[in-house]
Amino acid sequence: MNEKVRFAIVGCGRIAPFHADGIAKAPSAELCAVCDVVEEKARDFALNRGLQKWYTDADDMFRNEKIDVCCVCVPSGLHHEIAIKAAGYGINVLCEKPLDINSDNMLEMIKACEDNNVKLGAIFQRRTYQAACEVKKAIDNGSFGKITIGSAHLYFYRDQDYYDSGEWRGTWALDGGGALMNQGVHGVDMITWLMGGVKSLRADCKRLLWNTEVEDTAVITLTYKNGAVGVIECTTSVYPGLETVFTVGGQNGSVLFGDNMIYSWKFKNDTPSQPEIEDAFAGTNCSYDDCSPHAVQIEDMARAVIENREPMITGKEAMQSVKVILAIYESARTGREVFL
Ligand SMILES: NC(=O)c1ccc[n+]([C@@H]2O[C@H](COP(=O)([O-])OP(=O)(O)OC[C@H]3O[C@@H](n4cnc5c(N)ncnc54)[C@H](O)[C@@H]3O)[C@@H](O)[C@H]2O)c1
Repeated sequence: MNEKVRFAIVGCGRIAPFHADGIAKAPSAELCAVCDVVEEKARDFALNRGLQKWYTDADDMFRNEKIDVCCVCVPSGLHHEIAIKAAGYGINVLCEKPLDINSDNMLEMIKACEDNNVKLGAIFQRRTYQAACEVKKAIDNGSFGKITIGSAHLYFYRDQDYYDSGEWRGTWALDGGGALMNQGVHGVDMITWLMGGVKSLRADCKRLLWNTEVEDTAVITLTYKNGAVGVIECTTSVYPGLETVFTVGGQNGSVLFGDNMIYSWKFKNDTPSQPEIEDAFAGTNCSYDDCSPHAVQIEDMARAVIENREPMITGKEAMQSVKVILAIYESARTGREVFL
């Protein structure tokens, strides 16, 4: 395929500009169509991006445009609906996080993509940050020796205006949960990815500050599949919010890192790939103009289509963090340890 891979966006809200900017920066991608059920949003977004046409119905767009990849940017509990529709038209799917909000929805969308022989990729852009990549490399290289502990400290701030800014926000039906399912899913994905999966957990979830149906503050203790333990703290109630921070350590080393930076990097036996670590101390590294992490995943998705390979984060992979969060909610509800 010599032409650029043609991307469409469904849902022209807050996250959509990150996709449109990412598509503009990714060398192998181009934006060809947009859709939002609110016509004004679809029209403004289209005109802003140099498109003369817009859609208010995804079926209509999928039928009438030549689309290779659909970016799913609608509220989380609707991801499966759009993904399944797109798959039915033979269109590949790049879905925003979380993959969806319950297991049935996620399994249905994965099956629809498999049945229609299209790819299902998922956005977890923090996995592309250099600090995280260096830690993952060190884990895979065995630099930590036996890993004993891995934790995520996720201190966000979202005020009541935020929760009131969309009817779906902070609802079980469409947000699927609160601080964990919406904001914290990035950190849950990160620590689960680094530690290699969760075996069991105990959780306490509370609604301490905001007027919503869902948790704004949670503490979880985990045992990972590799036998190590850890803690996740997650909240949207802490003004003004802090950088998310992760700690991983064991027999031969320990690291403390945030979204963009490594703060501490100490190993007994060796110091892996030191120049890259120096870069990671300075912030994210990226080959595109201004380091758009969405652009990295969009370019990967375009290359996955061109090369007929899986995208860097598949639907099945993205499902893991949601399963952990659903187990957290079950533990908070029942007061019991939950095994995954
Ligand atoms: N990767 C990230 O860091 C990140 C950041 C923010 C949001 N998100 C995710 O992106 C998704 C959207 O979040 P948002 O903050 O942009 O929400 P939003 O409410 O700002 O935008 C959602 C848009 O979807 C439209 N919509 C709803 N149903 C539709 C349908 N059936 N067809 C077409 N359009 C429809 C709405 O009108 C709205 O404009 C969520 O799943 C959220 O978790 C990811």
